[in-house]
Amino acid sequence: MIDLRKKEFSRDELIQLLNTPLDEAQELFDNALAIKKETLGDEVYFRGLLEFSNKCSKNCHYCGVRGGRKNLHRYEITDEDIRSAARFAVENDFASMIIQAGERTNKTFIDRITRALDIIMEESNNNMGITLSLGEQSEDVFRKWRDHGAARYLLRIESSNRELYEKIHPVDKLHAYEKRIKGLELLQKTGYQVGTGVMIGLPFQTVEDLADDLLFFKKMDIDMFGMGPYIEHEETPLYQYRHLLPPPEERFWMSIKMIAVLRLMVNDANMAATTAMQTIYPGGREKAMLAGANVIMPNLTPVKYREDYLLYENKPGLEQEKEDTVSYLEEIITGLGLKVGYGKKGDPLHFFNRNK
Ligand code: 5AD
Ligand code: SF4
Repeated sequence: MIDLRKKEFSRDELIQLLNTPLDEAQELFDNALAIKKETLGDEVYFRGLLEFSNKCSKNCHYCGVRGGRKNLHRYEITDEDIRSAARFAVENDFASMIIQAGERTNKTFIDRITRALDIIMEESNNNMGITLSLGEQSEDVFRKWRDHGAARYLLRIESSNRELYEKIHPVDKLHAYEKRIKGLELLQKTGYQVGTGVMIGLPFQTVEDLADDLLFFKKMDIDMFGMGPYIEHEETPLYQYRHLLPPPEERFWMSIKMIAVLRLMVNDANMAATTAMQTIYPGGREKAMLAGANVIMPNLTPVKYREDYLLYENKPGLEQEKEDTVSYLEEIITGLGLKVGYGKKGDPLHFFNRNK
């Protein structure tokens, strides 16, 4: 029997924990939730999500908005829509927002993001915790955005196994594995609260890979995590390997186990209950919160843009769905015996512990 209350686990132990059969996994989930409550209290934080643009210069093999897809309408959200979303966030007592977009590094894009930060700061009286999820950028750009109010940055490693990384991305300079690692290091160096994560249930991925991902997170001393199941998209190169995929339920429960095991290892980090979990399994975000996740990201992107931001199939929210309204989310969170952390930025405690 593995002691679930220790923080250091060997690779073999991690593999064993991830292989726990579902009908024996309740103890794992319960311990993860208990540790989350002991360390961070019973609050769950809202982050208002803005899908800023689906323009992208990259070509990740899994992604529905990859630059190489020609038959997709490309948009960029207007300043006015950013302002309204920020106003909505302020009115609903969200103290944090996240801006996500395809990766671009040209000056026009960098300036528009800078302006978006200014708009949100203006609307919130400098009181919004802003997370960016905009891919690999130069140190100068990271600094600039930080100076304009971004405090957190999410850059998923997608898989820490270099071989697997190179199967799911083109092998070229733009998509180099080292560049991704370097990005994470630069973010830490420039003082961000740094988030990463992986996709779970990718073709060619093994449970050993996932255990190594967990060890990678720990080694990199990461503050925040966004992980979720891989969901195939017909118009992407990886779709041809769909026969290799574990069934959706399996991908889902492996994702929940990843959250739970990670919570045992890193007690004080923020962990998201992601949309992909909800997409692959109805009520998936609730299961994630019951396994130690403490962040949820209601989508504030105006509905008119959403059909163009489908990273994977069956992504919900093409209309403003009931599942994403503040009242609905509050109800489910309360129903789980947790609370919404209204008005709190919800900085990851791990960041402060790391910088002590
Ligand atoms: N399935 C699940 N997650 C995906 N992402 C991109 N495409 C998919 C997919 N097909 C995730 C990646 C990326 C984030 C923006 O969305 O992890 O970092
Ligand atoms: Fe672009 Fe991100 Fe999709 Fe890769 S995952 S193609 S960087 S939007």
